[in-house]
Amino acid sequence: MTPSVPAAVEVVILAAGKGTRMHSDIPKVLHPLAGIPLAQHVILTARALEPHRVWVVYGYGGELLPATLGGPGIDWVLQAEQRGTGHAVRQAISAIAPDSLVLVLYGDVPLIRADTLRPLLSAAEQGALALLTVELDEPSGYGRILRNRNGAVTGVVEQKDATSEQLRIREINTGILAVGAARLKQWLAGLKADNAQGEYYLTDIVAMAAAEGVRIVAERPHAAWEVMGVNSKAQLAELERIMQRNRAFDLLERGVTLMDPARFDLRGTLTVGRDVVIDVNVVIEGQVTLGDRVRIGANNVLRDCAIDADTILHPNCVIEDSTIGEAARIGPFARVRPGSRIAAHAHVGNFVEIKKSEVGEGSKVNHLSYIGDSTVGRHVNIGAGTITANYDGANKHRTVIGDNVSIGSDCTLVAPVSIGAGATVGANTTITEDVPPGVLAVGRVRPKIIEGWKRPVKKP
Ligand code: UD1
Ligand code: CA
Repeated sequence: MTPSVPAAVEVVILAAGKGTRMHSDIPKVLHPLAGIPLAQHVILTARALEPHRVWVVYGYGGELLPATLGGPGIDWVLQAEQRGTGHAVRQAISAIAPDSLVLVLYGDVPLIRADTLRPLLSAAEQGALALLTVELDEPSGYGRILRNRNGAVTGVVEQKDATSEQLRIREINTGILAVGAARLKQWLAGLKADNAQGEYYLTDIVAMAAAEGVRIVAERPHAAWEVMGVNSKAQLAELERIMQRNRAFDLLERGVTLMDPARFDLRGTLTVGRDVVIDVNVVIEGQVTLGDRVRIGANNVLRDCAIDADTILHPNCVIEDSTIGEAARIGPFARVRPGSRIAAHAHVGNFVEIKKSEVGEGSKVNHLSYIGDSTVGRHVNIGAGTITANYDGANKHRTVIGDNVSIGSDCTLVAPVSIGAGATVGANTTITEDVPPGVLAVGRVRPKIIEGWKRPVKKP
């Protein structure tokens, strides 16, 4: 006997619908959940099952779907007219080998987990039609699962076609199913649109299977939220909270302190060290890494950045596409823009903007400054209100500041310019040419003293 080879899995994701109740010009499955399109979540889950192929049936929104979700490894199938879920699956079936297994997922049911889908595939592999069903207290709107006296599934009736007695059934069809491709192909060919909505219902295959004596298995999801669909902005918001809660609890389990898991948003991937503390209203996007003992104050937004051990981000900072070394102090109210590298023990204080610059170890830019396109050495002190004038209206220029430089308050460094190591720049100086190391550069208008000055008085 030759060992049996597991059948190839073909995942078909239905995503052709418009999503009228979203009241949006964006196709429903492209609305973001935790920062990425709804359908992308489903595609990622599908991929986790290591299928042969992932098919996405698209229609409304046209090429916007392939353009947005694109990338290799997706087979796009156009359903030009949305004539029902059965019609949608039919668009893909002709290209699927008869000896494979088909798993049908929905582009607007984003929280489904791979662990819930695997038992469906095993049942299908053993020749069954595997459905994912769930009992709901409020089953309204869903297709109902029909069972005979022995409890065997005999069919699915849609809400709009159901009798008042059938409407009382609380076990509903999630829509997700798995079955052998050969059978599915044959059943799809036999679908008729003689129902309340004039559509080709995928769900009609259940009665066909029952009539042919094919075993029908109804599996349950681990959690009810896995099968919740998005039809409205309210449901989208609800799913966002569920997803964020799951992510927050996952971080808590990994030892992160979240001051309030209900006020934390992760829209990407967060890698954390030990004893990280995150205060409320922190938004994390893209790929973010936080080293051991990093503390993130309230209202920080971090996008694609790495923050090393023992660094403190005081409240209200925005850090983007940058790295911050160990034991640094950032904020409150600092903005670190893309391409910046803040070294260990550096301080970037309040109302300071850093753009595409390096700030060396132990250097301080503590108040109200703009540092752009600059290289700041080690142990530099930059006084309050200092600006690098990096833009001449046409081109950007660099400012280079050597180690141990001290720059007074309210200076303007007109780039391209360099300040030699150990130099001092007096307060209120405009630097337009290079300053040699070790000197004092000061260019300041002396105040004129006018004796006996009378201040204007307000006219009566
Ligand atoms: C469907 C099921 C119902 C189930 C419910 C779960 C059928 C006939 N009914 O009903 O039993 O309880 O889902 O949410 O299958 N789509 C296409 N092309 C089409 C039609 C739909 O791609 O021609 C896609 C939609 O974009 C959507 C999904 O299929 O993602 C479900 O379609 P929808 O019309 O919402 O089906 P329901 O009436 O909700
Ligand atoms: Ca639906």
